Amino acid sequence: MLFGSATAAYQIEGAWNEDGKSENIWDRLSHQEPCSIAECHTGDIADNSYYSYKRDVEMIRELGLDFYRFSLSWTRILPTSFPDKINEKGVEYYNNLINELLKYNIQPMVTLYHWDLPQKLQDLGGWSNSLIVDWFTDYSKVAFELFGDRVKYWFTINEPRQICHLGYGMAAMAPLLNDSGYSDYLCAKNLLLAHAKVYHLYDDQYRSKQGGTIGIVISASWLEPESEEDAEAAEDGRQFEWGIYANPIFSKNGDFPKEIKQRVAVKSMIQGFSRSRLPEFTPEEIELVKGSSDFFGLNHYSTSFVYRNESVYGYHKSPSLNDDASIILYKDSSWEGYSTKIVPWGFYNLLTKIREDYDNPPIFITENGYASPGGIEDDDRVKYYRQYLDAMLNAIEEGSDIRLYTAWSIMDNFEWLDGYILRFGLYEVDYESPERTRTPRKSAYFYKQIVRTHTLDH
Ligand code: NOJ
Repeated sequence: MLFGSATAAYQIEGAWNEDGKSENIWDRLSHQEPCSIAECHTGDIADNSYYSYKRDVEMIRELGLDFYRFSLSWTRILPTSFPDKINEKGVEYYNNLINELLKYNIQPMVTLYHWDLPQKLQDLGGWSNSLIVDWFTDYSKVAFELFGDRVKYWFTINEPRQICHLGYGMAAMAPLLNDSGYSDYLCAKNLLLAHAKVYHLYDDQYRSKQGGTIGIVISASWLEPESEEDAEAAEDGRQFEWGIYANPIFSKNGDFPKEIKQRVAVKSMIQGFSRSRLPEFTPEEIELVKGSSDFFGLNHYSTSFVYRNESVYGYHKSPSLNDDASIILYKDSSWEGYSTKIVPWGFYNLLTKIREDYDNPPIFITENGYASPGGIEDDDRVKYYRQYLDAMLNAIEEGSDIRLYTAWSIMDNFEWLDGYILRFGLYEVDYESPERTRTPRKSAYFYKQIVRTHTLDH
């Protein structure tokens, strides 16, 4: 079992327009007025990691971690979005980071896409344009060529649902589009094809000479029915929230889940007319996507109770019913109502369901963590980690094949529309100081003990 921690480029790097980097969709969104991000925060400087990467590696060493998961910024490496010009300065930054990690025997684990799409590609439709399959493949090839001699763990795309549903359907992530039921489904199909093409590119051309592993990262909350009658609604919810991405890759038959196909079918008065708003996969595409991940990369945070309602999705989340949940801390944040609750049995149920539904795939826990308003004495975060790791151990005892665990995050960082209001860090970051000083929290010491002893008994 490997232990590590994670970040993502836009959330920590800063240097948003330095050394040749061009604009991405989060640069654009965070500079727009009126602002849509909490307190008008931006990632312009973020944690200053572009300049402080040595301190980042030092923290990872302080905790004795086996690996560090971080993402590459597409526009830092390819300022035109395409491989016609490679930005040497950007490449140098990632080379420095990777080499610094390897110097201390820490595995670099790299996410190719963690939400910061080049703005130029967004202007062409972004993930709703099917050409993204080739754009993303070209960019990924550049990354394999540049870094694959040293990087042995690759994640193609982080959290498809957040990209497609929140970004194109619900205006809750860049590019802040609100086209629910249309572009979000185009995005879903294109994203799965882009992922699968990159998987096969690696598998066919790089795996044998570089010897690494590659897969996708899917986020999943546990959805628990409010009452017995809501059991099917909870299942619909699980399929809408993660089955839509997991089923085509990990199930035996491939393809989108039947629950979703039925619910988004377009009913027409014209006889014989049948078309879904969810674009279909051809049989060849089903084959391309099926099995295109060496492991199930799982981001998990919390649990919601759900009940049946009349919406297209057929379910609704109830914020009120949480027995052992901690209070909802974040009144004005997007996490209000359904997250940051300590519900370890939800994690256990989720791990069990993945084991049962998808024939016990190797699982990489690529993110798990707790948000707080800040402060060094983060007892709630310690409690969260203790209980969630315990739930994970129970799942392992029952046969789940969990290979690694990642705490989100090594330090506080830019939490998307919540700016710097929500803090997930094992280290606290001081945003008043120009160098963004990092200080360990109680949870950092707790995690360090776990990593050292591989036990929870302290
Ligand atoms: C998932 C995302 O991958 C990450 O970027 C984000 O900061 C955390 N969850 C917490 O919301």
